[in-house]
Amino acid sequence: MPIIQPPDMANDTGRSLGDYYAIVIDSVGDGVIVVDREGVITLCNPAAEEITGFSRRQALGAVFEKLFSQETTLLEMVIKTIRTGITISDHENVVVRSTGKVKPVAVTCYPLMLASGENIGAILTLKDITYIRELEAAVRQADRLSTLGTLAAGLAHEVKNPLGGIKGAAQLLERELTRESDLREYTRVMIRETERIDHIIRELLDLASPRGLRLTPVNLHRVLGDILLLQKQAAAGRDISFSKQFDPSIPDIMADEEMLTRLFLNLIRNAVDAMGETGQLTVTSRVMSDYRMTQNERQSRMVAVEVADDGPGIPQKDLENIWTPFFSTKSSGTGLGLTICHKIVAEHRGMIKVESDPGHGTKFTVLLPLVQ
Ligand SMILES: Nc1ncnc2c1ncn2[C@@H]1O[C@H](COP(=O)(O)OP(=O)(O)OP(=O)(O)O)[C@@H](O)[C@H]1O
Ligand SMILES: [Mg+2]
Repeated sequence: MPIIQPPDMANDTGRSLGDYYAIVIDSVGDGVIVVDREGVITLCNPAAEEITGFSRRQALGAVFEKLFSQETTLLEMVIKTIRTGITISDHENVVVRSTGKVKPVAVTCYPLMLASGENIGAILTLKDITYIRELEAAVRQADRLSTLGTLAAGLAHEVKNPLGGIKGAAQLLERELTRESDLREYTRVMIRETERIDHIIRELLDLASPRGLRLTPVNLHRVLGDILLLQKQAAAGRDISFSKQFDPSIPDIMADEEMLTRLFLNLIRNAVDAMGETGQLTVTSRVMSDYRMTQNERQSRMVAVEVADDGPGIPQKDLENIWTPFFSTKSSGTGLGLTICHKIVAEHRGMIKVESDPGHGTKFTVLLPLVQ
């Protein structure tokens, strides 16, 4: 491809200047859409195609109001800028419903002005802020969990001692009973159930005051492979297929192996639970080339592990609650699994998110930095 130089403005023929500007606009990472005074779209760069889901061919020559008839906030901004010639920004309220998904965007609408000051249209710049919204949600979630965690830990401490007393008394009682006594059935239930509460309390205390990370180089694929093998055995007799799509280029990552095992075991168990008798579970790993986390002014590349199932999915109304301690829709679930997962990922400075399509399945994505 020929190298295009900035044209010599003085001797420019007009055509090369146009090419040059087109390349500049196409290279801008934010979406740019230009609308003339009649509301007809006259320019649309590749980033705008990506954000809106409309191709340049669909957009050019189309009436903005028709193409974006659903996006009332966006429409109001364009109309107002064309009418008044003022610049309007909105980084909070605008969404674009592209390809079935609602994408939050930060928008600025500038007037398109001639040197004479005549207003001949509007320039829209659109920035996809899905990633920022996800981070904000993760921070809110972490805040909520830490408050709940502190509360739960206080409660756990209070319950631990009397529980020990109950278990001890039940054991004494059992010893007093003859081997044939029918009452033994009751003492056994008492002991078993106090042990169950004790397990929950230990998990809760762990959650509130974690022991800190024991970092070693971890072979992620071995950890995932081992869990899958065990779960396959546990699900024998059910028609569940397990598949793994691992990116072989992923090196060992610095992490706490025990905690990562717990994290992925929880996610994979949840997927297996959700699928019931038949289903397909897929675990995928890849390196995210464009996703970096800043840590102490250092950036770290991330690996993504996805655990996807084709089970019933999670209803929209439950999606917000699944990370909350004790939220469970299972008769024997404690509802601590995902709270623990969230905590483990946060401690590794990663991110966890869920996408669910009710009726079709659920996908949990864990992002972990390659180094800590
Ligand atoms: N893959 C999934 N598909 C459908 N629903 C899910 C999935 N994963 C989690 N859930 C929902 O989220 C809830 C909370 O999950 P979480 O792991 O925290 O608790 P649990 O599995 O119910 O109990 P446990 O503490 O034993 O893990 C589940 O009860 C279930 O309703
Ligand atoms: Mg669980």
